[in-house]
Amino acid sequence: MFQYILLFLTLGESYLLGANAVSSKSDASCQDIVGFIRDSRDCKKWYQCRSGEKINMPPCESGTVFSIQAMQCVPIVHPWNDCPESLNIVGQQINQSMIDYIGDFMGVEYKVVENHPHGKPVYEVELILSNNGPVTIVSRGWRIYFCHIMKINPLNLDTQYGIIFDHIQGCLFSMSTTPNFSPIFPGQSKKINFWAMNWSVSKTDVMPNWYIYANGLKSRVIASTAGEGLDFVKPFLNAKQYKRTGPSDRFHPFSPMERYGKYKVEDLGKAPFLVLPTPKSSIGSSSKLSIKPQEWVIVADSKVGAEAEILSEKLHIRKIDMAPQKKFIFLKVDNLKLNGVSNSEDYEIEMSAFGETIIVQGASPAGVFYGVQSLLSMIQGDSNSGYIIPVTFINDGPRYQYRGVQIDVARNFHPKSDILKLLEVMSMYKLNKLHMHLTDDEGWRLEIPGLPELTSVGSKRCDDLTEETCLLSQLGSGPNASAPVNGYYSVNDYKEILRFAKSRHIEVIPEFDMPGHARAAIKSMEVRAKKNKDPTGQLYLLTDPKDKSVYESVQMFSDNAANPCMQSTSLFVAHVLSEVMDMHKNIQPLRTYHFGGDEVGNGAWIDSPACKKLMNGDVTSTSEVKKHFVKLVSNMTASQSLNLGAWEDGMMGDQEIPFNRTELPNSDIIVYAWDNVWEWDRSSRAYRFANNGFKVVMSQATHLYFDHPYEPDPEERGYYWAPRYIDTMKTFSFKPDNLYANIDTNRSGKKLTLEEVCGPLGTKCVQLKNKENIIGMQGHLWSETVRTSEQMFEMYFPRLIAVAERAWHKAKFETAGKDSADSLLKNDWTKFANTVGYKELLRLDKIGVTYRVPPPGAYRNKENKLFVISAFPGLKTEISFDDQLTWTTVSSETTAYKGQTVHLRTRSADLKRTSRVIKMNVK
Ligand SMILES: *[C@@H]1O[C@H](CO)[C@@H](O)[C@H](O)[C@H]1NC(C)=O
Ligand SMILES: *[C@@H]1O[C@H](CO)[C@@H](O)[C@H](O)[C@H]1NC(C)=O
Ligand SMILES: *[C@@H]1O[C@H](CO)[C@@H](O)[C@H](O)[C@H]1NC(C)=O
Ligand SMILES: *[C@@H]1O[C@H](CO)[C@@H](O)[C@H](O)[C@H]1NC(C)=O
Ligand SMILES: *[C@@H]1O[C@H](CO)[C@@H](O)[C@H](O)[C@H]1NC(C)=O
Ligand SMILES: *[C@@H]1O[C@H](CO)[C@@H](O)[C@H](O)[C@H]1NC(C)=O
Repeated sequence: MFQYILLFLTLGESYLLGANAVSSKSDASCQDIVGFIRDSRDCKKWYQCRSGEKINMPPCESGTVFSIQAMQCVPIVHPWNDCPESLNIVGQQINQSMIDYIGDFMGVEYKVVENHPHGKPVYEVELILSNNGPVTIVSRGWRIYFCHIMKINPLNLDTQYGIIFDHIQGCLFSMSTTPNFSPIFPGQSKKINFWAMNWSVSKTDVMPNWYIYANGLKSRVIASTAGEGLDFVKPFLNAKQYKRTGPSDRFHPFSPMERYGKYKVEDLGKAPFLVLPTPKSSIGSSSKLSIKPQEWVIVADSKVGAEAEILSEKLHIRKIDMAPQKKFIFLKVDNLKLNGVSNSEDYEIEMSAFGETIIVQGASPAGVFYGVQSLLSMIQGDSNSGYIIPVTFINDGPRYQYRGVQIDVARNFHPKSDILKLLEVMSMYKLNKLHMHLTDDEGWRLEIPGLPELTSVGSKRCDDLTEETCLLSQLGSGPNASAPVNGYYSVNDYKEILRFAKSRHIEVIPEFDMPGHARAAIKSMEVRAKKNKDPTGQLYLLTDPKDKSVYESVQMFSDNAANPCMQSTSLFVAHVLSEVMDMHKNIQPLRTYHFGGDEVGNGAWIDSPACKKLMNGDVTSTSEVKKHFVKLVSNMTASQSLNLGAWEDGMMGDQEIPFNRTELPNSDIIVYAWDNVWEWDRSSRAYRFANNGFKVVMSQATHLYFDHPYEPDPEERGYYWAPRYIDTMKTFSFKPDNLYANIDTNRSGKKLTLEEVCGPLGTKCVQLKNKENIIGMQGHLWSETVRTSEQMFEMYFPRLIAVAERAWHKAKFETAGKDSADSLLKNDWTKFANTVGYKELLRLDKIGVTYRVPPPGAYRNKENKLFVISAFPGLKTEISFDDQLTWTTVSSETTAYKGQTVHLRTRSADLKRTSRVIKMNVK
């Protein structure tokens, strides 16, 4: 994105110039010059001819630069030099050591001053740039690139501050200086106040790794903004800062006492459940089996050798071929009929204390695998000292066939090792679908043979404004192409993921998001077309070069919609599809191709000649073209006997009406219903799709979008566009087949009634007719603010255990009447929370899953006794009386006095990590 200055002038007028002026006007070859254009950044310039032609001006001599005021080349030090990039304070060219210096010594402070002043949907930011080193920072020649997730408006702050913001694409903005900017002397700082759209109430809205750039030099990250600490973002301490819309926003950070009230459950002193998710039926007894690994063996029928290997490896018990008389675990596939219905994932566990045997029987290898997982969950002890297992009979099977986890590896890359770990922990909780969001505007993450640019260019973001070697920096990725948020899976990596997933009975559902959210692919294919000048270069182009449409996506991209009207776009999809099918073949044949389909910027393709041709005339709406794309992909996948997956908005036009199912030939179309902010009147979509013959995965953002924070606290990671926060309890309370019973509050925290959302007669809310079309539910992690693996697992866990619980086990509270639902829920939650706190978190620690450790809640009673709890009973809490110098474990003896200030934190189950520290002014 370049900005041009177009200047009209009268030819023949003469300009007075100093003695050093070098004339270049006469070099123009176009007779009829009407003005000229200058790139305001790079001082390149052209004559604009009346014919429309642009003619390059000859370059100015070294040491001179073209001046707009003078219409001539002038020396760099001349006062008429108005080309910002060529200047610094003493008139010298900015050099690398100055850039390095700014990177090292410029302090950046970012503070949200106020949201929603005078009811306006904007917020004020105070930015302080300071010079913390010994050298003067020159006023010109550099600019700062940074990610700002909300639009900055206005961009031009020249008169106030001598700076101009430019919106590049997506969240990438630049800040450059004008002649009104003065140098920053050592120790000096400059305060810049600006406005941005919407609101910001959370630290992680601000992205790290701002960088300093100068034309032709190497960019540097500004050290004060680097890394994950976000220390340059000032805390959100007052209501103007942490409320989105002033007093009408009812959310505020929990006080220790509020947190105490919210998360207080009876501490049962131990895990009441042996297995999560809760089995259909589990009958315990008082006897226990004691297992010495050296004495016991595992025997399996031929269909479940692999499952037996997994069990053998985990328990260090030998696997042999023939069962002895006793002391064995036997795995087998056999007909099972739970309650008369048979489901391939059902299983049964039978133990005999007297016979010293354990028999795990499944309706299929998957069933046996889940039996093995339940067994592993029940077993206590270790291979050295031996195991103890309470003698239990379990008869179990899932509620839903689809129990999913979505991961966004496109916004920020997450390496194979994290995916393998995620698969392992998913399998512990019987989750069976991994939906991989592999592509988006900010990255393409899977090697596609034949289209190397997708990964050589599209998997990296760096400092290349031409985007010939990488994409623009986005989401705080900085200028460094080797930063860990960049990357992709090679074909072999992906196959390894598939093999591992298969061994854990998990289906991988790859998503290639198109036609919107396709910028990474679009830019990669443009590089390809440029590189291969022959016609084959154009073969997979995703854009119509003559398209003049103007649009902007939710994330502020104006060039991210692939053009469905181009033959080359359909060749591209066909190529990707065929390569992906190849990767899956012989491991886990591809069953569902997820094409995304969401959030196409309105206005896209309207002025594309290719689309006009295809539509035989004018293009009346963006969604009409989208529908064409859907049919195209549907045809393509159906002819390979594949199912099609899509986000809900990808499968409908503008009027909330699903596309005609019978016109789409796939045997199943799976729609992910996500956009259910209650006051937006969209929550019926899930049922509308189900009623129209689509399969639906419940993905409701209000309960299942784990890019949202755990608490309404500015210090908690995550976006908050749907609800302000989602804690584990909220996900646990989700009623997937009683959707409107989940209505809670609007986005300001105001309680909403069923009548308010569905209308007095309930007519605004579609009722579910085809219950069998709700095939399951899924937890989602969009990764805009999630850059490291610790952050990733923190956002997933423990919330994902609650997803597993709801997807596997239908609870009584879900359908109970108003009178009993609350107490049933409370009862269930108490058992769940105790099981998580006393048992599951330690299992997660053991495999290195960095779940979120919840900060404590606390209050003081009249006797000065301090009560401190964490959301999950069993976790230790700690207190510091000396401003965090020393910590002691909170006990029943701990006292605190009114007026005292203490700090509190929770320890992870393995005691190795700690929660966010809470400051408490004792009341
Ligand atoms: C860079 O410019 C500064 C002054 O602006 C000068 O002191 C320094 O020597 C220059 N460094 C190099 C490597 O040219
Ligand atoms: C910001 O506000 C604009 C205008 O009200 C709206 O269109 C846009 O969706 C909002 N963006 C976000 C991210 O909330
Ligand atoms: C770029 O990132 C890589 C990987 O984190 C790191 O090793 C390297 O030092 C970084 N380069 C710069 C210039 O910061
Ligand atoms: C999809 O296939 C149907 C039936 O063969 C055909 O009529 C239709 O034109 C195809 N649509 C697209 C967009 O390819
Ligand atoms: C859907 O398409 C089928 C086949 O083209 C047609 O018979 C049916 O009327 C359409 N349904 C609607 C609601 O338009
Ligand atoms: C929530 O409802 C309250 C009360 O009706 C209203 O003032 C507020 O604007 C609503 N918030 C949103 C985000 O709709």
